Amino acid sequence: MAAAAVETLRWAGERLELIDQRLLPQRVEYRACHDASEVAEAIRNLVVRGAPAIGCAAAYGIALAALRAGAMHQPLSSALPLAFELLAASRPTAVNLFWALARMRRCWEARAIEPDASVAAHLVAEARAIHTEDVATNQRLGRLGAELLPASCRVLTHCNAGALATAGYGTALGVIRAAVAAGKHVEVIADETRPVLQGARLTAWELQQERIPVTLIADGAAGYLMSRGEIDAVIVGADRVAANGDVANKVGTYMVATAAHRHGIPFYVACPVSTLDISLASGADIPIEERAPAEVLGFNGASWSPAGVAVRNPAFDVTPAELVTALITERGVARAPYLDAIRKLVGLAGVRW
Ligand code: MRU
Repeated sequence: MAAAAVETLRWAGERLELIDQRLLPQRVEYRACHDASEVAEAIRNLVVRGAPAIGCAAAYGIALAALRAGAMHQPLSSALPLAFELLAASRPTAVNLFWALARMRRCWEARAIEPDASVAAHLVAEARAIHTEDVATNQRLGRLGAELLPASCRVLTHCNAGALATAGYGTALGVIRAAVAAGKHVEVIADETRPVLQGARLTAWELQQERIPVTLIADGAAGYLMSRGEIDAVIVGADRVAANGDVANKVGTYMVATAAHRHGIPFYVACPVSTLDISLASGADIPIEERAPAEVLGFNGASWSPAGVAVRNPAFDVTPAELVTALITERGVARAPYLDAIRKLVGLAGVRW
């Protein structure tokens, strides 16, 4: 199965290149990161965003820190702890970031007695493995999710859970790609996704690249289209899923799920097993990032709000498990009761934290 045309991250030997998602769709430009602090900054500023893509970038950040330490004759034991700290502080909600850092730490600790140069080479290989595995994971969950869609359907999505949000192919958009590849006719309705417009800028652009039909709507139009029978299913990605099946995803997802429930429309969440966080009992425990007021006051230099107005800018919200029709992962499709289903998915391959 072909990977998506968009290359979100690429490893170029001693630097990580990231498509600068802040510039899309006007410009396709890559930004080079040479050390962990540049990667952390790119994550914080949304150069790279989307839970799995953030995890991959952070893994490369650790690899870069190890290579740089070697070049500066600095021991890994003094360079790496700071790199882990910087990257872990970049964004709080997407658990894939912490999952990838934990995997890199295990790789480091397992080889602590080897020479630093050899450890650095292993860390680069581990980051590359996380990158490659993510594409395969998305392709697999895409195939499983595609089976849930009818032969012809209109699917609403919120934010961008596509190739741009992952190492490639996408989760929610991976399901759509796989359905199209299987010969189904899928029309996508993309919420624009205020405040930073991941739907309008990224999802619309990404789908246009592959000629998958996409119609953009204002966020507030989703309920109206549902009430008119113009949406057959909703598929979104996730930043973190708690043990009970509550889902943190881009702010606005909860309203979409509530409206879908009201109209009897299936609401699917597509995510890799690395997004499941069984250490948290429910969504109430998920840390929700609050971002800068400027994102709500305007966009891209334009500001349309009166100076001094109070602003709240939670970047994510939590959709209760009872509104989720199914969770689509690479290890299978889970349905309520989620507590058991999620434990099974996580336990299957012995995921460790
Ligand atoms: O703030 P963002 O753009 O990083 O938020 C991204 C989302 O909410 C995505 O839906 C989620 O990370 C899933 S990506 C496969």
